Amino acid sequence: MTHISVLLHEAIDALNVRAGGRYLDLTAGGGGHTAALLETSAPDGRVFATDADAAAVARVQARLAAHGDRVRVAQCWIDDVVGLAGQAGFLPADGALADLGLSSFQLDQAERGFAFMREGPLDMRFDATRGVPASAWLDAADLESLTQVLREYGEVANPRRVAQAILDARPITTTTQLRDVVAGIARADRRQRIHPATLVFQALRIAINDELTRLTRALPAVIAALAPGGRLAVITFHSLEDRIVKQAFRDASTARVTAPGFGDGSGDRPASAVLVTRKPVSPSDAEIAANPRARSAQLRVLEKVGEGAQ
Ligand SMILES: C[S@@+](CC[C@H](N)C(=O)[O-])C[C@H]1O[C@@H](n2cnc3c(N)ncnc32)[C@H](O)[C@@H]1O
Repeated sequence: MTHISVLLHEAIDALNVRAGGRYLDLTAGGGGHTAALLETSAPDGRVFATDADAAAVARVQARLAAHGDRVRVAQCWIDDVVGLAGQAGFLPADGALADLGLSSFQLDQAERGFAFMREGPLDMRFDATRGVPASAWLDAADLESLTQVLREYGEVANPRRVAQAILDARPITTTTQLRDVVAGIARADRRQRIHPATLVFQALRIAINDELTRLTRALPAVIAALAPGGRLAVITFHSLEDRIVKQAFRDASTARVTAPGFGDGSGDRPASAVLVTRKPVSPSDAEIAANPRARSAQLRVLEKVGEGAQ
């Protein structure tokens, strides 16, 4: 069981990592990107690596222990990283990386409840010590809220019909039970290229972990926490995430100027960053062949500009 880091060289190259720099890895996962940041910033660069998943934190701590105090690993959500990194002396940062979604460790462990191919409790929490598992969330859900989650976070076809079938089948306590309910109602549509449960699992996981809200909150805070010339690289795995990254990067790289004759200009501000990637970078065919999980990955990179540098 291992996790193959996606767009590893592309992301590390894009971050312009240098010796002595301070870096944030907001999604430590299996520690692959963190290890590359440490190697590239040797001998004295430092990395603050975080993940909401306590198991990931313990794994990365053990994997990278030989780097001593060049690396600090902590459990926290992506939208709490900046506060913690500041207290730990890692700001302003010379670079930050977020590689969103799930690690292979999480998918491979049936008891985490992320994978519909493995029988396990329907949990889906990144931080399994807090909040409610997906099974309990479904117990409390009504038709409106479940329909909305399936529509907005899964772009599920016929979300109301799928939601009703799920609610009728409650209690749903295992991954395979949910998969079979969804497969049962979607069987008629043979045109689908992916298993019908894929989008339902994605939608529930996003809701349980409040992923899109956290990402929306985190990005401007991380950009503000970069040193001039510092870069932020974000790897997304579906269009909902990519849309949020694209918007946050556009906001940061666009100056706000009041049109003449409107207001006093007190809300005006220059752009705080420039886009390094105008179009997202995708994995090569060779990477996708070696690691099918990479197929939907997209990398966007932005660079903070210094005061008065615009
Ligand atoms: C794709 S894996 C990262 C893999 C890592 N870059 C590597 O090379 O091994 C994504 C990780 O991000 C974590 N994660 C996803 N969304 C998060 C969030 N909103 N806050 C904190 N951690 C998050 C997951 O728990 C998972 O371990």
